[in-house]
Amino acid sequence: MQITEPMIANKVFHVVKIRFVAKLCVSFVFTAYRKAYVRRAQIALITLAVSLTPAAAQDQSVRPGVNQQYHNADFARWVAVFERPGREVFDRRHRILDAVGLRAGMAVADIGAGTGLFTRLFSPAVGSQGKVYAVDITLEFVANIERLVRNHGLINIETIRNTPTDVMLPKHSIELAFVCNTYHHFEYPRRMLQSIHHALQREGRLIVIDYKKIPGVSSAWVMGHVRADRRAVIEEIEAQGFRLIDDKDVLKANYFLVFTKVDR
Ligand SMILES: C[S@@+](CC[C@H](N)C(=O)[O-])C[C@H]1O[C@@H](n2cnc3c(N)ncnc32)[C@H](O)[C@@H]1O
Repeated sequence: MQITEPMIANKVFHVVKIRFVAKLCVSFVFTAYRKAYVRRAQIALITLAVSLTPAAAQDQSVRPGVNQQYHNADFARWVAVFERPGREVFDRRHRILDAVGLRAGMAVADIGAGTGLFTRLFSPAVGSQGKVYAVDITLEFVANIERLVRNHGLINIETIRNTPTDVMLPKHSIELAFVCNTYHHFEYPRRMLQSIHHALQREGRLIVIDYKKIPGVSSAWVMGHVRADRRAVIEEIEAQGFRLIDDKDVLKANYFLVFTKVDR
């Protein structure tokens, strides 16, 4: 067969076409791979950034197991612990009540209500137009406060079983959040504080009573059980949109701090 010029031209064109298509395919595959690679790298970077933020840091408990003792709580046993003479906040509960400064008609949350020691004192102080939210993560405590409420017709008390990260109160529902001997039980203090901030009305107050932790002064039990000292607690709370406005001198083994909500 005689090879003509058009045949050669046709062959050359064919080869060029195959090479062009092959190049196109390679470049397409490479681009797709690069895009997937960049995407994977972006996802990895975002995950890394998120995992390094303080938010994620507090997805882990700051004090694992601190509330383990309340699992299947025997209510009568804990009444004997929380409401016994010799416990400072029990002995001075009426002084504490005066210093809290409740008025009739106020909405207040007793966060970490326990056996309801302060809930029961707050109820008559805010009166029938007021409201006391008894908030606790422990089922048995909440159920027993609920029983007291029903038996005594304390209609201005509402019980809430919250989660360790959220006080579960509606936005702007309270003027005062009261946290007695409970801050050191918060496993997720930053998230609890954020939810308290959310629940407080404008310029609402947060009162925190907790054990002073002073080496050489505080008991061995306090030194081992209580996570943070007064200064660290103030720093943690102020970092979440609160400002310390008072430090009341009504207790000895405990401090009594008053914060106001600051708009963020
Ligand atoms: C030492 S008791 C204090 C009870 C009460 N405030 C008093 O002084 O008698 C601590 C309470 O905090 C509760 N608690 C722990 N973490 C909590 C959280 N994140 N939110 C609400 N309650 C919590 C426990 O279930 C327990 O009832």
